[in-house]
Amino acid sequence: MGNKVEHTNKYQEIVEGLRNNTFKNIMFITGAGISTAAGIPDFRSKDGCFAQVQKKYNLSYPEQLFQLSSFKQNPGPFYDFCKGFNIDHCKPTKTHLFMGYLCKKNIVKKIYTQNVDGLELKAGVPINKMVFAHGKITEAACPSCGKEYDINVLRDEYVMKDKIMYCESCNTPIKPKVIFYGESLPISFILNFIFIYGCDLAFIMGSSLRVYPFNQLPDKLPSGTWRVFVNKEKVDDFFNFDDSYSKDLFLEGYSDEIIDKLVQDVGWQNDFNNYCENILNNLGK
Ligand code: APR
Ligand code: ZN
Repeated sequence: MGNKVEHTNKYQEIVEGLRNNTFKNIMFITGAGISTAAGIPDFRSKDGCFAQVQKKYNLSYPEQLFQLSSFKQNPGPFYDFCKGFNIDHCKPTKTHLFMGYLCKKNIVKKIYTQNVDGLELKAGVPINKMVFAHGKITEAACPSCGKEYDINVLRDEYVMKDKIMYCESCNTPIKPKVIFYGESLPISFILNFIFIYGCDLAFIMGSSLRVYPFNQLPDKLPSGTWRVFVNKEKVDDFFNFDDSYSKDLFLEGYSDEIIDKLVQDVGWQNDFNNYCENILNNLGK
């Protein structure tokens, strides 16, 4: 019965809760949509990565490029994809910077991301706040025996020279430690699941929530947790946005624009701008 409160202006409640420091355990659950403004395409938008790779590599379905069994048989297409996927120059977006800013305010519990670009860390998020559910592009290993390899050797000596790197122990092609279809999620995803139970506000941003088991996270949040879905398109499989008694709020649009407005409405604009300036200036150094 506790949550039978009617929320007539959900957005205003979020703004006031942030302004009055009511929310102390904020969770972020993110996908590729928060990095598109950094120049990294998402997967399923019409101009996303899947639309590009299916034709280019003559795949039966786009996910095949990230399918472990297909990769082991024919690593060439994925190596070629990696060759064009250079994100070293990409800068964190306002959305990433907002996460870093809230971490600095010490009100972030955890950030679960499906992204492998690491832009959260460039935005000042401490590594211990991060759960990279789909792995990281900064490390490489053998997908069969787990033997670790140097990502820079993989990229510079093999990928960029159109050669395939094979495991010295079991002769499987080596790949970055990003999770492929057919691989289980890292143990860190399982171990950190516990943190969702202490969360009072969750921003779910830039994801189509199509990939299991990551897409189960919003559903596992404790009832009574505010769930703010920030996305260009509506995904309502897991939410009750239209129920004025629910704490589900859909903010439709580009995440950077929504974050900018939210920061403005809360009254953090100057402080946030200073934070962004500091971080971005240091990146350039
Ligand atoms: N602001 C807000 N939303 C955006 C923006 C933006 N600037 N750009 C794109 N979006 C939305 C899209 O409308 C889409 O709903 O972000 C969502 C991105 O969805 P996907 O492309 O499916 O990406 P994601 O949900 O992260 O995919 C999950 O699929 O192939 C696997 O492992 C891969 O981690 C990836 C997983
Ligand atoms: Zn091996």
